[in-house]
Amino acid sequence: MKDKIDNLLSEIEKMEIKSKEHLEEFRLKYLTKKGKLTALFDDFKVIANEERKEVGKNLNELKNKIQDKFNHYKEKLEGGEETVSADIDLTKPANPVAFGSRHPISIVRNQIVEIFSRIGFTVKEDREVEDDWHNFSALNMPEDHPARDMQDTFFVKMSPSGGGEGGGVVLRTHTSSVQIRVMENSKPPIRSIFPGRVYRKENISARAHCFFHQVEGLYVDENVSFADLKQTLLYFAREMFGEKTDIRLRPSYFPFTEPSMEVDVTCFICGSKGCSICKGSGWVEILGCGMVNPKVLENCKIDSKKYNGFAFGMGIERIAMLKYQINDIRFFYENDIRFLNQFKSA
Ligand code: PHE
Repeated sequence: MKDKIDNLLSEIEKMEIKSKEHLEEFRLKYLTKKGKLTALFDDFKVIANEERKEVGKNLNELKNKIQDKFNHYKEKLEGGEETVSADIDLTKPANPVAFGSRHPISIVRNQIVEIFSRIGFTVKEDREVEDDWHNFSALNMPEDHPARDMQDTFFVKMSPSGGGEGGGVVLRTHTSSVQIRVMENSKPPIRSIFPGRVYRKENISARAHCFFHQVEGLYVDENVSFADLKQTLLYFAREMFGEKTDIRLRPSYFPFTEPSMEVDVTCFICGSKGCSICKGSGWVEILGCGMVNPKVLENCKIDSKKYNGFAFGMGIERIAMLKYQINDIRFFYENDIRFLNQFKSA
């Protein structure tokens, strides 16, 4: 008997009443003479005396519950509500919102900006579609200069009539173009970095893409020394890759700096013991740099007898790939959520 009462109780609690039809169904099922409750009262007539008190109490409670539920919904539905929505629990916590994350390129860009801001470098950005002068000639790469071959270039067709291919408008191949724009438009001392996207006509592979991101740095003042450049880059490398990091400068060539260097850092992945990232050498290359070629200063109408400076340029993808040990540049541009989610806490 007790089980029957319990079963009916849970049946009633589960029953959903959303409309007048549901309510009528409920009434017929539980509250009429032929309903389930009456049937239980019939059973009650024949049970043993010692059980009567307890079972009677339970049965009455059940009856009250059924009647209460009926009255509650009757009132609601007759009060003009056509349907009753499921009871809403306003104290329940809301569904958690899934947060996105910053793109690894943005994370590393922001870190670079922050590191150089701390030693007084301001940030400037400029156009991605450039003229020949700012991308090449002013940087000591006149037309027919073989150094132009170092960077395969996308040329922009301006209009059918003028400036077709080779007409002097390009997608910038490096952020060094911004050096020129800044030197043309401001007077030394200049101490700025220029982050931005650059384009090269490369076949896409694990190591190269037709666009990527660079950060350029430029410091022009009186008496800027090679030691200033070295110390600035050592500071950067230690902030970026850890305080045990060392740097090494290798002679190189860029038309716009003289002398020019490529900079390696000690491999922070294997602690310079030799691994696949540093190809066993203990060093990984991170940027190009040099003392600004006096011809470049003169091209920007800056007196090269009075002023000198240093410049450097690095690929953000390269730094991010080293830092996060990413072995394929294409991951950055595929927007695969499984890749991007890994940078949530970065
Ligand atoms: N512009 C060079 C490149 O894209 C990098 C660089 C910048 C080198 C400034 C020296 C000075 O490879």
